[in-house]
Amino acid sequence: MQFIPFDPSTASGADYEAITEMRARVQVLDRPGTPPLPLAATVELLSGQDAMSFGPRTFWTARDAEGLTGFAVVSLPDRENTDMALVFIEVDVDRRRQGIGTAFLRALLPALQTSGRPRVLALFVVGGSAGEPFAEAMGLACTIRGVSQTLETASVDRALWDVPTPDGYRLHAWDEAAPEELIASYAEARKAIDDSPTQDLVWEGTAWTPQRIRDDEAAVIAAGQYVPVVVAVHEATGEVAGITELIIRPGEPDQARQMDTAVREEHRGHGLGRAIKAEMMRRLTASRPEVARVTTQTASDNTYMIGVNHSLGYTDVRTLAHYEIATEALVARLRHSAA
Ligand SMILES: CC(C)(COP(=O)(O)OP(=O)(O)OC[C@H]1O[C@@H](n2cnc3c(N)ncnc32)[C@H](O)[C@@H]1OP(=O)(O)O)[C@@H](O)C(=O)NCCC(=O)NCCS
Repeated sequence: MQFIPFDPSTASGADYEAITEMRARVQVLDRPGTPPLPLAATVELLSGQDAMSFGPRTFWTARDAEGLTGFAVVSLPDRENTDMALVFIEVDVDRRRQGIGTAFLRALLPALQTSGRPRVLALFVVGGSAGEPFAEAMGLACTIRGVSQTLETASVDRALWDVPTPDGYRLHAWDEAAPEELIASYAEARKAIDDSPTQDLVWEGTAWTPQRIRDDEAAVIAAGQYVPVVVAVHEATGEVAGITELIIRPGEPDQARQMDTAVREEHRGHGLGRAIKAEMMRRLTASRPEVARVTTQTASDNTYMIGVNHSLGYTDVRTLAHYEIATEALVARLRHSAA
């Protein structure tokens, strides 16, 4: 078995197709009901053009004489959370329990050690899937549990989005650039996401500034992505009180993924979260009628957000968890298990 970094400069069309097909089989088994990434989205992913990724990523493939057997991603957050390496491994459905996942993780160790990151995390491991016992067998411990929810635009009752704007606030929306007069308080409001429950996960929030927002907006445009934003503005002060945003990637134009939704502490309890998300759905279905589904992930103890999502027509589809281990402990464990 060979474990090799994926090199877009030498990859053929057949390589992209093999990865897409293998990942589709994994998706059907481990994340049933959620459509697999189409070829165009796989190409986009592997090109590394994603304004929303957690820093630089390396993609890896596992192969033997029969062809592709696995796929992995190592991400090294480069702004916040620079103490962690994020690892994601998938093994083809008919090649499991043969030690490929373990060997793949072992093959990634030099890259993890070279990165100098003391923590290794596996994010979004599906509850009840093989990923959980695998992570535990590798010595990782769960730090946070969450729920994945989806809203299907074809079947949802759109009357659920007839939510009045709370008194004292007005809604504002944009698709590309935050208005200059709101950008400073928008940057502050974005930090309110740091108040969401983190359970046992240690996670450094993004240090949002107006410049960082402008940089992100430019990166989104360069990647051909669409990131609509809805905010609630507090009329008395003119400040942004709450924000919500989605992302649609060009290779998957019918799938919207929820990014942050956050309401500043002093404005909580007025129904702003529900109002801005309802406005987002009204706008999204008008401007992008091709969107079939919106997907979101929320910590399992974030009952307010989970309830808001239910009230707008989201249903729970699966549980998710983040796992973690100290890099040194992983190295020691895999060295030991290789002996
Ligand atoms: C998780 C995954 C990568 C494991 O790949 P794999 O090649 O089957 O893993 P291994 O054969 O090396 O398994 C190592 C150990 O993990 C545990 N394990 C793996 N799958 C398991 C399962 N379905 N049930 C119970 N234990 C399991 C076992 O302890 C196993 O050792 P054993 O077979 O000697 O009992 C694979 O199931 C997968 O691709 N899942 C979907 C993606 C995912 O969840 N990735 C994890 C996030 S990084």
